[in-house]
Amino acid sequence: DDADAGGLRTPIVAVLGHVDHGKTSLLDKIRGSAVTAGESGAITQHIGSTAVPLDVISSMAGDLVDPTDFDLPGLLFIDTPGHHSFSTLRSRGGALADIAILVVDVNDGFQPQTMEAIDILKRTQTPFIVAANKIDTVPGWNPNEGEPVRVSKEKQSDRVQGDLDEKLYEIIGQLSDNGFSADMYWRVQDFQNNIGVVPVSAETGEGVPDLLTVMMGLSQRYLKEEMSIDVGGPGVGTVLEVTDARGFGTTVDAVVYDGTISEDDEIVVGGLDGPIVTEVRALLKPQPLAEIRTEKQFERVESVAAADGVKIAAPDLDDAMAGAPVRVVRDRDVDEVILEVEEELAGFEVSTAEEGVVIKADTLGSLEALSGTLEEHEIPVMRAEVGDVAPRDVRVAETAGEPINRAVLAFGVDTLDDAERLADQEDVEIFADDVIYQLIEHYEDHVEAIET
Ligand code: GTP
Ligand code: MG
Repeated sequence: DDADAGGLRTPIVAVLGHVDHGKTSLLDKIRGSAVTAGESGAITQHIGSTAVPLDVISSMAGDLVDPTDFDLPGLLFIDTPGHHSFSTLRSRGGALADIAILVVDVNDGFQPQTMEAIDILKRTQTPFIVAANKIDTVPGWNPNEGEPVRVSKEKQSDRVQGDLDEKLYEIIGQLSDNGFSADMYWRVQDFQNNIGVVPVSAETGEGVPDLLTVMMGLSQRYLKEEMSIDVGGPGVGTVLEVTDARGFGTTVDAVVYDGTISEDDEIVVGGLDGPIVTEVRALLKPQPLAEIRTEKQFERVESVAAADGVKIAAPDLDDAMAGAPVRVVRDRDVDEVILEVEEELAGFEVSTAEEGVVIKADTLGSLEALSGTLEEHEIPVMRAEVGDVAPRDVRVAETAGEPINRAVLAFGVDTLDDAERLADQEDVEIFADDVIYQLIEHYEDHVEAIET
């Protein structure tokens, strides 16, 4: 509870990795619910957050954790879909996550999105550990449900242990190729300069106690100072997603990383056409340990303190953008807060020209990533926006003078049916992909076809 937290906020832990390497399953195991089963096609469609209090961590970690060693209140995990550019999650221009778990399938090793995640972790200097997942799939593995991994590993045959070690050393080698000194987590003394590799199984829970212990220990040791906040200050957060909630209209799912947000607070939210000033009508929270995105029953709360995930219901949120800041006004001048939000929005570098293509992306950060890559490819952009491809985007693309610019490039978003129809009618091409370089490749093929 808050009294115990004593001004220390929960560290925010991002769970990243290649598609299907087991991010959601791992969180699911920690949560003990069945989120994976409920996901369409088992693919994480959205980013969700899950708060895990210290007492739950310590009961899962068993002997590995002595809760009296810790004064951080727990961990807040953020799940990300493998196809999603994690650069989208920011706080004040930096990474939203304090720390990260990079999930790597022991059989698959490093894959494109693993590399993408590594690049982002490097760029944002986010400390991370590697969860080498799916150890239960090593042929001949005898599962020991929920046990610390070293205990379970020692119970395996020499051949099985050898096979696992081989796979783990491959991952350690790949980390080293990318400039990280890494080792099995139990050999790492200094987690600030070495990456610990934790063998786990999201299926059997083996290694999960180790993972939680390492994460807690790391946070406690290296983040404690950063976690000291003015708990009572005006809330600051990042929008993860804009969704409709029955009875509440358009709401934003946000992670609050500083201060508190309360019902009736005046807030400023980054929107498509600039800051939106509105008033919190309701704060909705999933039950403890539930996934903010999948849990249907929300509990209404008066106030939320950092760090935590919360659904904010307020009027005028239709144009709110994923990736944008949310700030509570409280005792300050609203204009001052509008300015802060404007500055943060301006921090996203998305440049547009008089003539070019239309781009759409799921969050501000991914829009920025797409725009940056297009710039490298010297592809001009006329309009850049967050959101699904809608008829009005086709209308904009249609006004382009050059045939090669009559195109909409969509990254990680859907295309509405009527937009598709309109594009057919008006001879506008829509390109959609979940991987930036593929998206650009398709567009460039199209340009080449037009020009030859
Ligand atoms: P995206 O959200 O699509 O990026 O995938 P993800 O990384 O969240 O993977 P997810 O948790 O959905 O798992 C993908 C598949 O791998 C599912 O079929 C899981 O059941 C399976 N899986 C995940 N972890 C393990 C594991 O430790 N062992 C085994 N045997 N299967 C696993
Ligand atoms: Mg997932």
